Amino acid sequence: MKSARAVAHTNIALVKYWGKRDSSPADLNLPAVGSLSLTLDRLRSETTVCPAGHDSFTLNQEPASGEVAGKVLRQLDRVWQAAGHAGPRPPCEVVSRNFLPTAAGLASSASGFAALTLAAAAAFDHDPGRPALSALARRGSGSAARSLWGGFVRLERGVAADGSDCRAYPLHPQAHWDVRLLIVHTERGPKAIGSTAGMQRSRDTSPYYGPWVDTSEADLAAAEAALAARDLAVLGDIVEHSCFKMHACMMASRPPIVYWRGATLDVVHAVWRLRAEGLQGYVTSDAGPHVKVLCLSGQADDLAARLRDVPGVHAVDLVGPGPDPTVEV
Ligand code: DP6
Repeated sequence: MKSARAVAHTNIALVKYWGKRDSSPADLNLPAVGSLSLTLDRLRSETTVCPAGHDSFTLNQEPASGEVAGKVLRQLDRVWQAAGHAGPRPPCEVVSRNFLPTAAGLASSASGFAALTLAAAAAFDHDPGRPALSALARRGSGSAARSLWGGFVRLERGVAADGSDCRAYPLHPQAHWDVRLLIVHTERGPKAIGSTAGMQRSRDTSPYYGPWVDTSEADLAAAEAALAARDLAVLGDIVEHSCFKMHACMMASRPPIVYWRGATLDVVHAVWRLRAEGLQGYVTSDAGPHVKVLCLSGQADDLAARLRDVPGVHAVDLVGPGPDPTVEV
C-alpha cells in the first residue's frame, strides 16, 4: 500500500434521507429513500491513510478509540475487501481533521467517510471510479455517498439487493447556481438520539414512516426540475416540505424524536416573516436544533443580519456550493 490524502466537503440535504431499507443487512447501510444535497464550500474533512506498524486513528489531533475508531477501521476493511487484494489488510495510520464550524452540530460523518473512503481507496490502489466509491462511502454513512462530488448531488435509492446501484451522482457542478446556505446556530440541548438509531426507531414505530417513504420519489423529481430551472420559490417549497415531513415522522416515533429547541422554531418563524418582507429564505434542519436557510447570494448578508437578532441565535455562517473532493497519493 501507499500513503494517500483526500479532502472532501460536507453536504446538507435539500430533500432528506431518513430510514433504511427493510430487511437489508445493516452492514450495507441501504437508505429507504433517495436524497438530494448541496455540497458546501470550506466545510470539509482532510484524511491521510499511511502504512504503519499497527492500526491507529487520530481525529482533530487527538488519538481516538472506541466506537468512532471502530467505524473508521471497519470502513478500511470494506475498501480493502472491495479492492480484492489477497491476504489481510495491512495496518494503517489514519489521521483526520474536520474543518467545520465549532459547535455547529454539523455532522462530520458525510465529509469524514467520503474523505476516508477516497484516501483508503487511493492507498490500496483501488480505482473503480467515483460512482462505485460513492456506494462504498455509503456503507460508512449514507450522507457520505453524496460528498463524492461538489455542487448539487443526488443519492439514488436503488433496487439491487447488494446496494451496487445505491450510490450518488452529480446533478450540477458548483457553478450551476449562486445560492447560499445560512447555518443558523441555536441553543443546544442534550442530543435526542443519533441518526442511525433514530431512523430505526422511526421505521419501527412512526405511523408516518410509510407515507414518508412513499412520497419521497415525487419530492426528488420535483426538486430536481426546480434545481435545473434555478427556481428558488419552487425548490424552497419542496425543501421545507421534505424537512417538515421528516421531522413529523421523527416526532411521531415512540418514544418521540424531537431535535428542535424553542429557538429552532423562533428562527423558522423569523425566516417566514422575512419572506413576507421580500427576503427569500427557505428553512431546513437535520438531526439537531440548528436551522439552515437556503437563499440567493444577493440576499444572504441581509438575511444573516436579520437572523442574528433572533433571541437564542448564537451565530450565523454563510456558505456557498463547494468543490469536488481531491485526492493526492
Ligand atoms: C437527517 O448519513 O448520518 O442528516 O447512514 O446512519 O450514517 P447513517 O445516517 P446519516 O443520516 C443523515 C440524516 C439527515 C438527513 C440527510 O442528511 O439526508
